[in-house]
Amino acid sequence: MRPQADPILMTTMRLPFIAANWKMFKTVHEAVVYAKEFRGAVKDVDDVEIVLAPPFTALHAVAEAVRNTNVGVAGQNLHWEREGAFTGEISAAMLTEAGAEYVIIGHSERRTYFGETDDTVNRRTLAALTAGLTPIVCIGETLDERDAGQTLDVLDRQIKGGLDHLTATQAALLVIAYEPVWAIGTGRNASPEQAEDAHAHIRTRLRQWFGAEAAEQCHIIYGGSVKPGNIAELVVQLDVDGALVGGASLDLRAFAEIVSKSRRAKV
Ligand code: 13P
Repeated sequence: MRPQADPILMTTMRLPFIAANWKMFKTVHEAVVYAKEFRGAVKDVDDVEIVLAPPFTALHAVAEAVRNTNVGVAGQNLHWEREGAFTGEISAAMLTEAGAEYVIIGHSERRTYFGETDDTVNRRTLAALTAGLTPIVCIGETLDERDAGQTLDVLDRQIKGGLDHLTATQAALLVIAYEPVWAIGTGRNASPEQAEDAHAHIRTRLRQWFGAEAAEQCHIIYGGSVKPGNIAELVVQLDVDGALVGGASLDLRAFAEIVSKSRRAKV
């Protein structure tokens, strides 16, 4: 069950959502050591939705380590078929059985290195929703696209293609991660204004395509060089509902600080 914002205390119905994308880092042992210490570091945080996305090999062990805590677990990808001859892939049911409640879909590294397209993002998103997993769908423009003034067109294409056939009810459950490719792993984060411009545009499109209620409930989080030093100025933006953190999430102190600095920022 995903935690809900307290409608009386919060001006927005969306709790901040902070996720760690560990990418291809951490062995099972390293991941479990982290998870056990991390759950203690954030145990009193009841106003942030917190998620760890370990590599597949460590998923089950991390899920066990954070079971019955306020920390959830995500896969980093899934295949859209239920099962079959798809060497190297894993299914939604495999993820849920291993303890995942979330799954990252369409990360730019998958788009760049592994041939992910808006069509495959769409198939994976529908499969995740059907299985009861919360998709964290990644979109974002390259530097060339930004420089050419194409950012909003790229986002429109990725949202339209990636979220095709979803119902409004399904769209409301989504987490959309705006991750400008030029900000990932570069140390150069989008400015709060750049992030808010993109996020507000995404929410406008969600409103047009799925209705006002879905647009209000959907979390739109930012990813790209998020650190303890810049999270507060990002999540204070009206449409920035949290962050998907790569490099800085590998250090549990830094990630716990990012979680704590995103708390109640919107009250
Ligand atoms: P960095 O935080 O290392 O820039 O990575 C962002 C990212 O890709 C999260 O999915």
